[in-house]
Amino acid sequence: MRIAYRTRQFWQAMSAAPSPTDLDLAHQILSPTLFDLFLEMNRGEQAHSMNILHQLLLMGETQPDLLAAALLHDVGKSRYPLRLWERVEIVLGRAIFPVKSRIWGQGTPLGWRKPFVVAARHPDWGANMAAAAGASPLTVALIRRHQTRDTACSGFEDRLLACLQEVDDRN
Ligand SMILES: [Fe+2]
Ligand SMILES: [Fe+2]
Repeated sequence: MRIAYRTRQFWQAMSAAPSPTDLDLAHQILSPTLFDLFLEMNRGEQAHSMNILHQLLLMGETQPDLLAAALLHDVGKSRYPLRLWERVEIVLGRAIFPVKSRIWGQGTPLGWRKPFVVAARHPDWGANMAAAAGASPLTVALIRRHQTRDTACSGFEDRLLACLQEVDDRN
């Protein structure tokens, strides 16, 4: 069931692209250097980020650092662009071998392990890229933590992180 869901989600992502209106909105929210970073992502990832942005706005979330993090949370994936079969590998690998997938993600991004390393480390890479492009410390923290689940939600940053994770999980 989970594999079927992930596979459907995967094909939707492969065919998606942001509309010109979406790109205008991203351009308004991000600084010029951060918008350039947004454009480094492939179109499917841009569309995924826009979906998250729209859903946060529908929920009434307008905090600017959260909106920037929504647009850039997966930008670390653009450091090692994946081919189609590598994307299939990560979807199936994580669904069938969840524990081993996490172990494979700890190596260097080479060979067949590369998709697992990108999946595990893109939050850190993306946070560093966003920081270098002038993102706020809060945006950088949200990007860095977007896959981290083991912290108790208490402060302001944690509340924003919980919103981002909730919407990311649905997309
Ligand atoms: Fe991510
Ligand atoms: Fe995401």
